[in-house]
Parts: sequence; C-alpha cells; structure tokens
Amino acid sequence: MDSSQTLETKQSMKQPPGLYLISFTSIWERFSYYGMRAFLILYMANQVVANNPKAHLGGLGFSEGFAGQVYGLFTAMCYCLPLLGGYVADKYIGKRRSVLIGGIFIMCGHFTLAADAGQATFFLGLTLVAIGNGFFKPTASTMIGDLYEQGDKRRDSAFTIYYMLFNGGAFLAPIVCGFFGETYGYKYGFLVAGIGMLLGIIVYLAGAEKYLGDIGKYPAYKQEVKEKGEKKPLTKVEIDRISVILVLLFFVTFFWAGFEQAGSTLTLYTDKFIDKTVFGWEIPTSWLQAVNPVFIIILGPIFSALWIKLAKKGKNPSSPQKMGMGMIALAVGFIFMIGAVMERGGDNPDVAVKASLLWLIGTYFLHTIGELMLSPIGLSMVTKLAPVRMASMFMGVWYLSSTIANLLSGLAVGFVQQFGAMTIFTFIAIFVGACGVIVLLLSRWLLKRMHGAD
Ligand code: GLN
Ligand code: ALA
Repeated sequence: MDSSQTLETKQSMKQPPGLYLISFTSIWERFSYYGMRAFLILYMANQVVANNPKAHLGGLGFSEGFAGQVYGLFTAMCYCLPLLGGYVADKYIGKRRSVLIGGIFIMCGHFTLAADAGQATFFLGLTLVAIGNGFFKPTASTMIGDLYEQGDKRRDSAFTIYYMLFNGGAFLAPIVCGFFGETYGYKYGFLVAGIGMLLGIIVYLAGAEKYLGDIGKYPAYKQEVKEKGEKKPLTKVEIDRISVILVLLFFVTFFWAGFEQAGSTLTLYTDKFIDKTVFGWEIPTSWLQAVNPVFIIILGPIFSALWIKLAKKGKNPSSPQKMGMGMIALAVGFIFMIGAVMERGGDNPDVAVKASLLWLIGTYFLHTIGELMLSPIGLSMVTKLAPVRMASMFMGVWYLSSTIANLLSGLAVGFVQQFGAMTIFTFIAIFVGACGVIVLLLSRWLLKRMHGAD
C-alpha cells in the first residue's frame, strides 16, 4: 500500500467529532449512575444503630432482601423506561432534546437522594433518575448510529470507542463517589454523582450545535414521512431483521441477569466474605465496582483489533456468534465464584472466614470479556437492524433485556439467602452457558434473517 493510500485509509477511519461529544456527555452520565449504584444497596441496608461501626454513614435500615428488591426494581426501571423515552423521541421531541431532558432529570434525582431526608425523598430521587435514564440512554446511543451512513465501516469501531470512553466514567464513579459516600456519609456520594451529571449537561450544551449539526434535531419518524411520503407498513426484510433483535434479546437477558449481580449478590458477598485487604489496607467494597470498567478500557482495544484482524482473514464471527461466546465467558466467570465459595468451605455464615480477592477479580475478568463480545456489538447491531424511523424505540427494546435482568439480579439476593451462594452461582453458570451454546447453534439461521445487515 503506498503512502497516499495509507493516508486515505486513515482519513476514512477517522471518526466524526460528534462521536466524542456524545461519548463525553455519556461519561458523566454513567459516572453519576454507577457512582450512586456502587453504594446504593449498602446505603439501603445500613442500620443507623449504636453498635454498627458504619452507622455514621447514614442509611435506611432495610433488610438485605428488601434492599435487593428495591435495587432490582430501580435498575429495572432505568432500563425499561428507555422504551417509552425512545418512542417519545422518535415520534415527538427528537433525540437531541431527549438527551438534554434526560440529563436534567438524572441530575435532579441525584440531588434529591443527596438530601438524605427519609424514605419518601429517597424513592422520589430514584424515580427521577430512572425517568432521566429513559430519555437519555436510548437516544444517546442511537445518535451515534446516526453519525454514519448505512454500510459505513466505522460504525462498529465507533460503538467500541463509545463504550470504552463511557466506561471511563463508570470506572471513576465508584472510586470518587464511593470514597465520599463510604468516608463522609452516603449523601455526599449522591451529591458528587449529581455534580457529575451537571458537568455532562454543560459539555453537551456547549458542543451540540457545533459538533452534531442537524443530527437528532427532528423526530426521526416525522423526518422519514417527510422524505419518503406517507408512512409505509413494515417490509418483509424489516420484519425479519426485527425478529433477529427479538430472538437475541431473549437470550441476552440471561447474560445480563448474571452480569448485573455485580451490584447485588456479588457486592453483598464481597462485603462479607471476600478478603479485601491488600498491603494491610482494606479496599472499600464499592471500589471493586471499578474493576469491570478498568478491564473494558484495557481489553476494548484488544477486542476491536481482534475483530479487524479476523475480518481481514475473512474469519470475523457474526454478531450472534460473538454474543453466544460472550454468554459462555460469563458462565465460566461464575465458576470462579464457585471457587470462592469452596475456599470458604461452602456456605459458611462466619464472616471471619474469607476467600481470596483473586476469585472475584477472575469472575469480573471473564464477565468483561463476555460483555465486550456482546454489548457494544448488540448496540451497533440494533442501529443496523432496526428501521431508522423507530431506531431509538428499538434501542429501548434492546435495553428491556437489562430490565428483566436487573429484576432477576435483585431477586437473586433473596435466592442466595434461601438456597446458599453455591447453589445459585452453579445454577447461573450452567444456565447461561447453555444459552450461549443455543445461540451458537442458532447463529446461521439468525444471520440469514439479517439480510446482509451484519
Ligand atoms: N454497562 C453498560 C452501560 O451501562 C451496559 C449495561 C446494560 O446494557 N445492561 O451502558
Ligand atoms: N461495563 C459497564 C457498562 O459498560 C459498566 O457500562
């Protein structure tokens, strides 16, 4: 390849600045979300009673089971409202405005939680954050898709860049918010989360006009009707492609149900039964939520390079194949947790007996490998397969899998109490592993129904 060609390839792979604007806004949005989530369950379960050494941090004193249910319901709402938000954006307000409205709701939600004024304000705060997510999440990711024409080679790599960047926010979040929350009191953690979202709003307002042009300004539905005349029914190809989204959605749900336990059962297990002391210092439980995003940032470039290398050899796995392998990676990750339980001699309630931190790190490592094979690929796939006029709504449909997953992950807290960690972790490993194998078996059939849009 001569140098002019290299330059041409480089230029054609250059990403539009709009990608970075949306990514930087999302960094702060994810910062606020994961920041509060890192200690949310600890805040709910903490008892403000005399003999509790953590009483000064504040807390609502819910039972662990109830805290798990609230946690599951809240995170589920965060991923279910995008369906509604996506619909409203496609049809009425446009993606651009939807992201801004979402950001404002989220910020107000965190500030409400920071008031730390009892249960009513607590639930109000959570509701505001969840509504904000509904507006923000589906529209921010679909706007990325809008930056590229159909068939543009940069799309997959753009989603990987986006994913890596916003994981920078997810990485800082538990460390910064967790530090304030677990040192000075949980309400300060919520406050810092709200300030993060405020910064995101400022970045977005400052750059949108300049870097996004007309993208997301008008509702996609109206624009398509204007361009293509009266609304048309779905074509056979569109229906086939939508069916692929729905089939994968079903299986992906079980992946996320396992994955999302990072914030529920795994956090509670780590808090009690994992030895978090390194060099004589105890790592705060919430900080361990930063392990997954760190792995995303480290492994992201490796995976995107791997896909490109395989594509050059004509061996790039199809999206469904990658997703199937991702599920198997998650299953293997849970085997590490089973190792932790075994090191402690089974389901032993004695908190003095701890398991090595390496088990947990191993679990997160494999979960992250699975996530990279499944999540950015899934977002990109939705923007390729969904009809343009309904793209945000289908992004919302995609996040529905995380809704059910989060509910299940909250319920899992109760299951672990009832059946023990050993049984539950083993069950998840077998179940999700089996889902992965089924998806691999279905992958050819799914690919055919994509009609060349992979
Ligand atoms: N961790 C990613 C995010 O926060 C994906 C989460 C999900 O889809 N469940 O966007
Ligand atoms: N890895 C999780 C997500 O991508 C934190 O946001």
